[in-house]
Formats: sequence, structure tokens, C-alpha cells
Amino acid sequence: MKRSVVLGTGSFLPRRELTNADLERMVDTSDEWIASRTGIRTRRIAGKGEENYRLAAGAARRALEMAGLEAGEIDLIVVATMTPHMTMPSCACFVQAEIGAQRAFAYDLNAACSGYLFALDMADKYVLNKPDMNILVIGSETLSARVNWQDRNTCILFGDGAGACVLSGRDHGGGIIDSQLFTDGNLWELLYMHSPKSLNPDLVQPGDDHGYIRMTGRDVFKFAVRAMEESVTALLQRNGIATKDIGLMIPHQANIRIIHKLMERLGVPEEKVYINVNKYGNTSAASIPIALDEANRQGLIRRGDLVLFCAFGGGFTWGSMLMCW
Ligand code: UT7
Repeated sequence: MKRSVVLGTGSFLPRRELTNADLERMVDTSDEWIASRTGIRTRRIAGKGEENYRLAAGAARRALEMAGLEAGEIDLIVVATMTPHMTMPSCACFVQAEIGAQRAFAYDLNAACSGYLFALDMADKYVLNKPDMNILVIGSETLSARVNWQDRNTCILFGDGAGACVLSGRDHGGGIIDSQLFTDGNLWELLYMHSPKSLNPDLVQPGDDHGYIRMTGRDVFKFAVRAMEESVTALLQRNGIATKDIGLMIPHQANIRIIHKLMERLGVPEEKVYINVNKYGNTSAASIPIALDEANRQGLIRRGDLVLFCAFGGGFTWGSMLMCW
């Protein structure tokens, strides 16, 4: 049976690094507070010529190169993002033009920080239906454009970047095994970002504030740990897989304390967890594909290994996925 297999991975980060020391000069914070509460040391911030779609295209080119495919062989481009360069056309349309993937249809998907798992899950369904399809699944964000740089509660957390993989049907025994996605729209007020201000006065949202990210951090933290733990436990259980059989766990990179709590509760040792939140901060939908590409290029995943992903984001959205490499 043909399953959805990753043929290649890629990532692309903006050049400029913003350190905790830089942030100390911008808001009332300290390297000590940021590092101990979040694990973040630096993050990348997009500059001129590094719009969301350009980061996405950079990651896509690297994934295509590893897959040994030309852009013209791609059938579908899905970009998971909540910070598209424009509201219309989608970021995916710009990527298609930028890399020259003329045969592909393309669109964006928004499930906030869980976006990459939602996009992979959807791409998997296309491949299961039509195994010959080559799909570029990209997660790309420029969150620096949407944080309030005067709000120390949020501006220290986020970073920009993109990651991608090429997915296609193969029957070599590997591929996506199972996934589980969840949403609870009732909890949206704990983590949200307004759209640009409405030009229809009747539709202006109370509290509309330039579309900044807003978060009630402590509540999000607690819910995120519990939700990801429950999702992973259920996914492993229904596939008859024990935690010790996991080759590598790649969690969404939001906060090192969330990752440590998850490891503790699931019983996954540190050497089996990929962590790069220290270098890039929370890159939302880009965090999992960037981490996957780094782990892949460092040779940390071997054919036959079980890779476990889990994510959590605004919505709330969350979920987990199991893949055999
Ligand atoms: O990716 C999508 C999902 N997002 C997440 O998973 C993020 C989840 N939440 C978190 O990661 C954490 O809640 C934060 C890192 C955002 C905050 O850490 P916390 O330990 O929950 O701190 P807190 O919000 O409860 O704030 C503790 C104190 C407060 O001061 P008081 O009220 O105790 O005097 C804050 O004002 O820390 C203060 N504080 C800061 N101090 C220095 C908040 N931000 C800062 C800062 N520098 N940047």
C-alpha cells in the first residue's frame, strides 16, 4: 500500500538575529527572565526582501533539491501561515510564481501554530487518494510584523522563518501512519490576532488594535501541555505503539518549559526530542518543519524510525501525527 512519504525537507531563515540583549534595550525585560521562562536566546527577524512568500520559496527550493524534483513536477502547494504577505492572493500563489511551479494549484491554510500538522494531514489525504501527486507542504511565518514591540509579554516570544517538505506516495513501508487533530473555538480569546481594521464601521471589532497578537500566556501554557499530552497518548495507544519505540519527537517549539513538561509526562528522554526554540523562538506554523529539516540534515532520523509530531496553537487548535521515516 502506498503511503505519504517525505521525499525532501528544507528550511529558510531570515538573516537578522535579534538577541535577548537586543530586547533588553527595547522593553523592560532581561536575558535571564526570557531564557529561564521560555528557553529562547535569539530569534530571526525578516528584513527587506524577506517577505513571508520569499522565506517559503527558499524553504521549498531546498526541499525540492533534496527530493530531486523540479518545481514543474509539483501538483499542489499548501502554505500553513497566519501571517501572509497579502490577504489576497494567498502566500501559496506567490510561492508558485516565485519557484515556477506552473502545474500546481496552491492555497493557504490557517490553523495558527498547529497549521503545519493540519496541512500535512490534508496533504496526506490527497496522496492517499492520488499517490502520484507531489505536494509541497510549507509552514511559513513573519510574526515580527504582527507583534506589539512594546508588549514584553509577547514580543520576546516570536520569530520568523519557513520550513517545507515534499510529500508523495510510495510503498517502501514508511510514511504517515496516523494523525489526530482538534479544535476548540470557544477558547479563542486566550490567544488571538485581529485582522486589519474593518473599513465597515459596523464590523469594527471592539478592542481592534492594529492586529497585534494577544495571549493569556499562563492559561495557554497549561492547556497546551495537557492537550498535547492527551493527544499523543491517545494516538500512540490506538496504534499500539509504546513511548520507548519513538525514534524522535518533534514538538511545536513555543516554550522549553512546555516541551520539558511534555517529555516528563510522556516519559520521552531528552535525547529523543528535537529542540531549537533557543535559536528561533516560536515561529508558529514554521516551527515543526524547520525542526524536521534540521533533524533530517543532521542525520538524526533514519529510515524506519518512528517520528512523532505534536502541536498547539490559537483557535485553540492542536493535534499529533505519527510517521515512519
Ligand atoms: O505557540 C502558541 C502557543 N503559545 C504558547 O504556548 C505560549 C504559552 N505560554 C508561555 O509560554 C508562558 O506563559 C509565557 C512565557 C508567555 C509567560 O511565562 P509565565 O511563567 O506564564 O509568566 P506570566 O505571564 O505568569 O508572568 C509572570 C511575571 C509577570 O509579573 P508579575 O505580574 O508576576 O509581577 C509578568 O508581568 O513575569 C512578568 N513578565 C516579564 N518579565 C520580564 C512577563 N513578560 C516578561 C518579560 N520580561 N518579557
